[in-house]
Formats: sequence, structure tokens, C-alpha cells
Amino acid sequence: MKTWAEPFKIKVVEHVRIPSEQEKQAAIREAGYNTFLLRSDEVYIDLLTDSGTTAMSDRQWAAMMIGDEAYAGSRSFYRLEEAVQRYYGYKYVVPTHQGRGAENLLSKTLIKQGDIVPGNMYFTTTRLHQELAGGTFTDIIIAEAHDPASLHPFKGNVDIAKLESVIQKYGAERIPYVSVAATVNLAGGQPISLENLRAVRELTNKYGIKVILDAARIVENAFFIQQREPGQNGRTIAAIVKESCSYTDGCTMSAKKDPLVNIGGFLAVNDHAVYDEAANLAVIYEGLHTYGGMAGRDMEALATGIEESLHDDHIRARVGQILYLGQKLIDAGIPIVQPIGGHGVFLDAKAFLPHIPQEQYPAQALAAELYLESGVRSMERGIVSAGRNKETGEENKPKLELVRLTIPRRVYTQAHMDVVAEAVINLYARRDSIRGLKMVYEPKYLRFFQARFEPLT
Ligand code: F0G
Repeated sequence: MKTWAEPFKIKVVEHVRIPSEQEKQAAIREAGYNTFLLRSDEVYIDLLTDSGTTAMSDRQWAAMMIGDEAYAGSRSFYRLEEAVQRYYGYKYVVPTHQGRGAENLLSKTLIKQGDIVPGNMYFTTTRLHQELAGGTFTDIIIAEAHDPASLHPFKGNVDIAKLESVIQKYGAERIPYVSVAATVNLAGGQPISLENLRAVRELTNKYGIKVILDAARIVENAFFIQQREPGQNGRTIAAIVKESCSYTDGCTMSAKKDPLVNIGGFLAVNDHAVYDEAANLAVIYEGLHTYGGMAGRDMEALATGIEESLHDDHIRARVGQILYLGQKLIDAGIPIVQPIGGHGVFLDAKAFLPHIPQEQYPAQALAAELYLESGVRSMERGIVSAGRNKETGEENKPKLELVRLTIPRRVYTQAHMDVVAEAVINLYARRDSIRGLKMVYEPKYLRFFQARFEPLT
């Protein structure tokens, strides 16, 4: 592989500040030991998320100046629609304010009370919208995805036999669609192969069931296909993305990820009746179907971002930076999810802190300690994110208890990655001193965003 050096140079910089020891202590206490509740001014290197944190290019900023802010029929909408049709291959597009807006429209359009929605691992907002629409999510990802040490090259794959048994158990009429994510965020940014996508398509065709793609990280997924799947190495990222989409009936898109913008999203489908219903719902929940919660200038930046995201040298540098950080941690003996994912490095908090039981939120505690150690902000992806069972009210106890170091696109340098690696390595050396947490405030929905904790004594 060629060097992953960035195919750009830097034109504008944003200063960052390193908070003092005292500031960090006060800030994390004030935030209830939840990194979502820190102010970004209190953070040195912000690896909370890769969502909406992208640096846009000069071409994207230039495109924003020519955004058409017409309420109806904006020229910028038609430019976005054309980009979606050309690069992903779907026929109809409804813009939304971000990914969960598209999930809401899709769930309300396709799911009825009592339906079952199989998916390759849940995602927080996606599953909640399925449930609010009356559906129940069921996991059909391969078993390897739940094992942080498995080196399977496509841990995002659907277990085809499991999917077929779900279809036979509930009947095709109760399955509005199969939800396929590429890559799988909560498995650690793990990809699904083209071969597996094709197999999902063949099986669902047999039963007349739709497939809906969560396309937020479809470009990172295509990079892994290009690198790992037999016969794919000579192909362009753009060709692999388009083929991936061709095995599905539509997608929800959080444009805040791979498409390189700070806000926005869309629902794209091939079925005109589904489009009609979703476009109609859009006027209630988002905005008119030709802007759906986005400004004209945002649609311009997105159309340009989609095109830039598909350049082979862009995605090689993007994922290359993550592989660089991950490899440093592996070399130092830190337990992380392997293979290294597409949008971040995931620390295995169960292996990092074996002395803290899952009911004491080890990943939450580890994220808080990493902030105290270094001013680096990360995110819990474990029992707090998994929430409660919708019937029993019990806490879901996921096998994966992770801390996500998520790398924004085109934002940080290699030296920043070195700082992060040093911080994690220092923390690992003093891991025995880290204690668990108790939850003192629990919100009703998506509790990880706003929950508050206190250290156990
Ligand atoms: N699907 C996936 C796989 C996601 O990772 C996200 C967001 C969404 C859907 C929802 O999109 O935020 O635009 O409404 N993930 C962010 C994250 C929040 O940090 O992983 P959204």
C-alpha cells in the first residue's frame, strides 16, 4: 500500500487549548462523568465523534456561496439529487436535517405495529425509530462481530442462515425491510463484504423483502472491500460504492459522516410509492421535500462532498490515519477491537478494566479517565449506549463494552494521533487505579447522551 499521506494541504487553522489539571477535574465533575456533557472548550483533542466534525474543502466552501435558498424547487436540491443518482444510483431523494430524520421518515413509511426489522447489529437512533414506529429490531450479524478479538475481515456481515430463520419464524409479511449498515458502527466500524450484500439481496428477493442500507460510512466500507475482498483490488472506490448500493432498495444517509459535511442527510429510494409517502411525511417533520431541513448552501456543500468522498486517495488517507493510531496501540499491547475499524479505534473496556463489573459502567469510567489523563474526549459504546429492554425494562448487557476514539475527517494530524496513543498507553499503565461509576440521572430516550454519573468510592 502507498503511504496514507493526506491528498491536501491546510489553508485555515483553528487553535486548540490544553486544559489544566484543575480545569479537567472540575469539568468532568460538572459533566456528570459523561463526555457528551463536556463543553468543547474544555477539550484538547476531540474524538467524541466523526459526525458533523469534518473539515470542508475550499471547493465546498466556494459551493456554499452559490447555494440557492429558494423555499421550493431550489437549484441546489436538483444538484444534490443528481449527485445521489449518479454516485449511489438511487432514483428518488428526500433531503433531511440529518440521518435520524431519514430514519424517522423511513420507519413511519414502511413499519407497521408488530413488524420485525432484522439488522446487522443495532444502531441507537435507528433502532429507536424502528421501535417508535411499532417494530422490533432483531440482530442478524455474524457471531464474530460480538468478539472484539476475532480477526474476521468482514465482521459486519449478515448471518444469512440466521436471516432466513428469522424470515421463516415471523413470515415475510411481518418484515418490512432488512436494515443493513456499512460499516457497522457499534461493532467497531467493521465492514460488510460485497459477496455478503449480494447474498442478502438474493435471499430477500426470494421472499419479496426490501433491503435498506445505512449508508453513513459506505465509502469507508468500500475501502475495506477494495483492500480485503478477493478480486476487488483493481476497482475504484466509486465503482464499489455504486455496486454496494445496487443490492439495496434505498438508503438512509447521515451526510455528517462520509459525505464530508457538518449537517444534513437524506432518504433515497427506488420505489416511487415509498418516495411519495416519505416526501409527504417530510413536510410534517423536516420541511418541504426539496430542502427537508437543509439550507440550499448545505445541499451544495453536500453535493460537492459526496463527489470528493469517493476519491481513492482521500479514503486511503482517511482510513490510513485510523490504522496508524490503532497499530500504535496494538504494538503497545492495548486491548482494542480488531481488525481496526473505518472511523475510529475502539478500546475494549472489559479487557482494559477487568476489575470493574459491567453494572459499574467500565467504558463510561474509562472515557472519563482518558479525559482526565489528557484532555482527549472519547465516547462510551457499551451498556450505557445499549439502554434498556423495551419490554422488561432491564438494562441490555451488550457483549461489547467499548470506548470509541472517533477520528474526524481531515481535521487532526499524525502528531495528534501520537498524543492520543501516549495518553492511552499511560492510562493502561495505571489502569488498576480506575474505579467504576454509578448512574445518578437516567433520561428516558437514548440515555447515553444526557445520563449523569458519580464515581464509586
Ligand atoms: N446511522 C449510523 C450508523 C450512525 O453512526 C449515525 C450517527 C446515524 C445513523 C444517525 O445519524 O446523527 O445524522 O442523525 N452516529 C453518530 C455517531 C451520532 O457519533 O456515531 P445522525
